[in-house]
Amino acid sequence: MPASQRSLPMPQPLISAKGLIKPATFLLCLLPVALAVYAVSQNRLGANPVESLLQLTGDWGLRFLLVTLAVTPLQFIFKWAWIARLRRMLGLFAFFYAVLHMVIWLVLDHGLRWDLIVQDIIEKKFIAVGVVVVAGLIPLALTSNRFSIRKLGTRWKTLHRIIYPLTLLAVVHYLWQVKANDIYEPLLYLVVLMILLGWRFYRLLKH
Ligand code: HEM
Repeated sequence: MPASQRSLPMPQPLISAKGLIKPATFLLCLLPVALAVYAVSQNRLGANPVESLLQLTGDWGLRFLLVTLAVTPLQFIFKWAWIARLRRMLGLFAFFYAVLHMVIWLVLDHGLRWDLIVQDIIEKKFIAVGVVVVAGLIPLALTSNRFSIRKLGTRWKTLHRIIYPLTLLAVVHYLWQVKANDIYEPLLYLVVLMILLGWRFYRLLKH
């Protein structure tokens, strides 16, 4: 057979759809903060921009916690093996938005006045709960890498289970600061969390 007719290996695309999932998710996760920066630059955050920024970052911190917890059920129910590769990134984005939320509160809301900051933590229980959540997320973020997984072994899983009570506390933090007639949204988050925890409990009982 002449060389020109011999079958050549199929050319591999330079970028595969599979390889695009992670960078696309990364950009999507940055969208809320990008929109917030744009809104600030356009002076479009309303009468109380600090409050708007606190609400946006708080909402996204909680949403990312819930999305992270939804990865395992989605992987099992829809047989989406690929989604497991996004879990670490989604968890780290929850931490990113939670820390941003806290920094906005410390710097923009309280002007780093530590007397007022400590007073707020002591007097408002929803703030104290928020601080506990951020503090609890720190060891999870620091150990979200291959080295820690290898080093901690089975203890890694035990440590990372604190994400469940921390997410519940994040919902409590939200519930405790809304007025009675605004309870609908935090309750919705609570229902989503209960479904995600209920699915895990059901699987535990089945096995
Ligand atoms: C140092 C820790 C924290 C502090 C000081 C803090 C402070 C606050 C404050 C002052 C508000 C009220 C904003 C307003 O005026 O409407 C708020 C709302 C909120 N926070 Fe936090 N927070 C903390 C941690 C967290 C964490 C870890 C999460 C979740 C990951 C979270 C989620 C929320 C949510 C969902 C809201 C309600 C936003 C809305 O009204 O739409 N917070 N937080």
